[in-house]
Amino acid sequence: MDEYKIAVIKGDGIGPEIVDSALQVLNAAQDKFGFKVTCKEYLAGGCAIDVSGRPLPEETLEGCKNADAVLLGAVGGPAWDHIEPSLRPERALLGLRSGLGLYANLRPAIMFEELKDASPVKSIDHMDIMMVRELTGGIYFGDSDQYSCKDILSDGTPKVRIAYDTESYSEGEIRRITDLAFRIARGRSKHLTLVDKANVLTSSRLWREIAEDVHDDYRDVSLDYLYVDNCSMQLISRPGDFDTIVTSNMFGDILSDEAGQITGSVGMLPSASLGKPGTPGLYEPIHGSAPDIAGTGKANPLATILSVAMMLRWQFGETEAADSIENAVKQALASGYRTSDIARGNADEKPVDTEGMTAAVIAGI
Ligand code: IPM
Ligand code: MG
Repeated sequence: MDEYKIAVIKGDGIGPEIVDSALQVLNAAQDKFGFKVTCKEYLAGGCAIDVSGRPLPEETLEGCKNADAVLLGAVGGPAWDHIEPSLRPERALLGLRSGLGLYANLRPAIMFEELKDASPVKSIDHMDIMMVRELTGGIYFGDSDQYSCKDILSDGTPKVRIAYDTESYSEGEIRRITDLAFRIARGRSKHLTLVDKANVLTSSRLWREIAEDVHDDYRDVSLDYLYVDNCSMQLISRPGDFDTIVTSNMFGDILSDEAGQITGSVGMLPSASLGKPGTPGLYEPIHGSAPDIAGTGKANPLATILSVAMMLRWQFGETEAADSIENAVKQALASGYRTSDIARGNADEKPVDTEGMTAAVIAGI
């Protein structure tokens, strides 16, 4: 029997609740599909700061490196907002991404037929986008600083503070992510859109040059380009026309939240962060730790449950188990089960809390 070692990071806010749900679903799947997972918990984010003073303790990164995959809930919350930026909970995520070499972030934005009502885009009919976000480069990891200078401004202010962040991409970084995006598009409907800001940014123009070049190896896939501002508009007006999108770290961060909301709730979107083949990937919902609803039972566990399905598919090749979890989610929605973020108050809805939704999914496996 195949055995998989999973490093589990529950994190902060609703993190522990949604990870517990996803682990229950994973347990049900292992019993049914004949594989075995062993989980080991590690601290990262605010809870790690409370214990060790650091958002990403060394043993957490080491534990993740030695696992077959990482499952993460969410990190951060108002309790840690005042902390010095280099020690904030979010640094744990960035440290895990760079420490594990997770350069590719796959964020599928699929609108379930049953949730059409919950989408703020009323004309929506269908949406199935694979957003491929570069994850270890760009402005998130570029040179940055803040300093004061002695210039006197016209209003007499004696000192100004200056801060900068740098969007910088190397050829190699662009090549490996666009190559993966072409491969993914080839397995879907063979259309790739590169989203950038090439009318303004030099780095975007390098993205286009490299993408053109990589395209030579994928002539069966069509490639087009969209400026990011235009893309944010087109996503609203014709979400069904997109297939695979590849973009930089920051544009991907922004557009994936937008795409998530179009599907009905950002609480529905899973993600997989991948590095070199054979190394552990990290699987997490794209939403945050929602401290305002932590402990209330209101959290929607579906994004984390679907992240486990992505782990089974992308990391372990357990296709049947992954299909089964995804189908069980569809079935739970079709049966009317709704957490509050996706409820619309229709008569045929069955309002449930986190546990209720988890039980509904498990019943369908
Ligand atoms: C995400 C989040 C993170 C990001 C934050 C929490 C650092 O917004 O995964 O989308 O910006 O990448
Ligand atoms: Mg984000």
